[in-house]
Amino acid sequence: MENTAEKKKILFSGIQPTGRITLGNYLGAVRNWRLLEDTYDCLYSVVDLHAITVRQDPAALRKQCLSTLALLLASGLSPEKSILFFQSHVAEHAELAWVLNCYTMFGELSRMTQFKDKSAKHADNINAGLFAYPALMAADILLYKTEMVPVGQDQKQHLELARNIAERFNGIYGDTFVVPEPYIPKVGAKIASLAEPTKKMSKSDPNENSFVALLDKPDDIMRKFKRAVTDSEAVVRYAEGKDGINNLMTIYGSITGKSFEEIEREFDGRGYGDFKAAVGEVVVNEFAPIREKHDQLLNDKAYLESVYKQGAEKASYMARKTLAKVYKKLGYVAK
Ligand code: TYM
Repeated sequence: MENTAEKKKILFSGIQPTGRITLGNYLGAVRNWRLLEDTYDCLYSVVDLHAITVRQDPAALRKQCLSTLALLLASGLSPEKSILFFQSHVAEHAELAWVLNCYTMFGELSRMTQFKDKSAKHADNINAGLFAYPALMAADILLYKTEMVPVGQDQKQHLELARNIAERFNGIYGDTFVVPEPYIPKVGAKIASLAEPTKKMSKSDPNENSFVALLDKPDDIMRKFKRAVTDSEAVVRYAEGKDGINNLMTIYGSITGKSFEEIEREFDGRGYGDFKAAVGEVVVNEFAPIREKHDQLLNDKAYLESVYKQGAEKASYMARKTLAKVYKKLGYVAK
């Protein structure tokens, strides 16, 4: 029997409330968050502070924040088991981020591929927040003595930096932060764009056909999969150079639990048309109940409020303790 007295490890992860939550976010992160809820003490944050590193429309952002929280709940996360909150509701995130900025090097931040990509995309708004983004992310994680951080492949570099920052600080001031481990799923950590399968699927992609969103209508999902870019071999098999098919097999496998060999056997002698329709169908079936639940939850603002208020309260309690310890180590006079 499980020893309930034993302390569980702490797990933290976050998702930006920008654009629409995609199949990539779902398979690379959110779905695994649900699976980890029983094993770890989990904190999941809608990271609205991170969101303003690119320009946001205030009304749209407010809506997106609530919709993202509703989607996390609709995907099965439980506010009884996990702490769900908006990052801006726990001021310690911004405070610790400032401190960590002073222990993060210009050179390190310059090497971040996400910074390079985003500054190319938003050349008219390469702001200091975009540059310092990984220090805020490190603060998110380090505030809670986090041991495990479940993310997709694209966040691995940021996580390595968070580990370096923690080790650097500990090296100067003695044991302060827990050094976190990444948790990257074996399948689904890098879902590719349906239109350009060598690129990652991204919610900020201007090409609507490149991603499938959790809130897309079934017809749109089916259409996007039917249009997905593949190759001319017309054989469903996982192989180098078949990025489009590999991606579709990954999606199909992640949802059905089937291995690549099983998928190859299932579609032996059948064309891509059949396969794409099958992938579309499993995604539609996976998303339908989530979409329905999301719509219900969005109509229940009082419930959402109770979730995020309670979440922020619990998170603040933990965050305050870490920040106090950090301030003491730094030599600040106690309040
Ligand atoms: P964000 O909002 O871009 O994405 C949320 C999660 O989804 C994963 N993901 C993917 N996984 C597989 N395939 C894809 N195509 C794909 N696209 C996105 C991401 O890896 C992520 O796990 N900086 C983070 C949010 C964040 C955070 C944190 C995460 C802020 N603070 C602290 C962990 C810990 C981000 O922008 O994720």
